[in-house]
Amino acid sequence: MRDSTVVAPADWAYPTQIHFGLGRIRELPEACRSLGMARPLLVCDSGLAELPMTANILKACEAGGLSIALFSDIRPNPLERNATDGVAAYHAGDHDGVIALGGGSSLDTGKAIALMTVQNYPVQELTIASFLDFTEIQAKLVTEGLPPVITVPTTSGTGSEIGRASALINEESGTKKGLFHPVMMPEICLADPELTLSLPPDVTAAVGFDALSHSLETYCCAFPHPFADGVALQGMALANEALVAVYRDGSDLAARANMMMSSLAGGTAFQKGVGAVHALSHPLSSRHGIHHGLANAVLMPYVVAFNMPVIEDKLAALARYLDLPSPSGQAVIDWLVEMRAECDIPHDIAALGISENDIATLAPLAAADITAVENPVAVTEDDMTALYRAALAGDLQN
Ligand SMILES: [Fe+2]
Repeated sequence: MRDSTVVAPADWAYPTQIHFGLGRIRELPEACRSLGMARPLLVCDSGLAELPMTANILKACEAGGLSIALFSDIRPNPLERNATDGVAAYHAGDHDGVIALGGGSSLDTGKAIALMTVQNYPVQELTIASFLDFTEIQAKLVTEGLPPVITVPTTSGTGSEIGRASALINEESGTKKGLFHPVMMPEICLADPELTLSLPPDVTAAVGFDALSHSLETYCCAFPHPFADGVALQGMALANEALVAVYRDGSDLAARANMMMSSLAGGTAFQKGVGAVHALSHPLSSRHGIHHGLANAVLMPYVVAFNMPVIEDKLAALARYLDLPSPSGQAVIDWLVEMRAECDIPHDIAALGISENDIATLAPLAAADITAVENPVAVTEDDMTALYRAALAGDLQN
């Protein structure tokens, strides 16, 4: 007899092609042609649209025989309407593929636009807020006939460059919800570390901690996915080597490359799941506009301390892998706190502008976030309140 408690069934897929290396942005026209794109829509945020990098990419694609147009009406922490507007631009320009260029906001929006070009329902009816509506919403999604997508990350952290989801904010509710399906994985990720050279140190550190949080949370997540743990360990080792180095010297190409690989590793691994760091972080972004990676960086040690009773063995193995001073969960917390301090990231969410008065609104949102159920320890709204309070007071002694 088959016993699913002995061998749990699971579906695993890591199929995205990654073209990694310095200067490989020059291969973009060829990558488009390889996917049959002749008229791509380049999607990036308005800030990036103004930079010479984007002008150069447009010029190179035109020189490569492509008829390319730009869509850049994207807010940081993008709105559902940004994707809807992008779909209108896609159809108006008779495009045949999407190039998503930028950080998480641009990549998420580009992937959402590609998915939404073939749907029968508006975006707000297809985003998922919790696992409760997951099956019903997935059944409404059209998953055939999507245009091809090439992602070109300009930051190292989001993981969206190879992920199968897009996070968008619903303006009415103020909540961050997700479009999710394996068909959202881009056909090609063109990962050129040189594109991250102009990122300022504070953003470099914040997105780097997002990469690290993906690997750490997925490694601690209890869902069955043995490949993910190996990829996550490597993602954390790369961040351990490069995160502080790249914060100190943004021109260090080897460190830039290692952080881009760490982001790719995190984005690959976190198909397994994330956890309470992300659940607590999402409302800080949607309600207070706090950078996602920065929020994760501040929150991570508190969540690790909270989860410690069930993840201590895994953390000890991680500490051994990273060669930390002792093979213990405490060594992992100390490592996170120290690395955070070296990147001049605050120890508490008070420094991010959060006060006790905000917690009553934030805690229910965190408890209802789709990532909350992925945490290795079940988390209630009261737990979320306690975690926000600990992070507010800078108290790691729970
Ligand atoms: Fe994240």
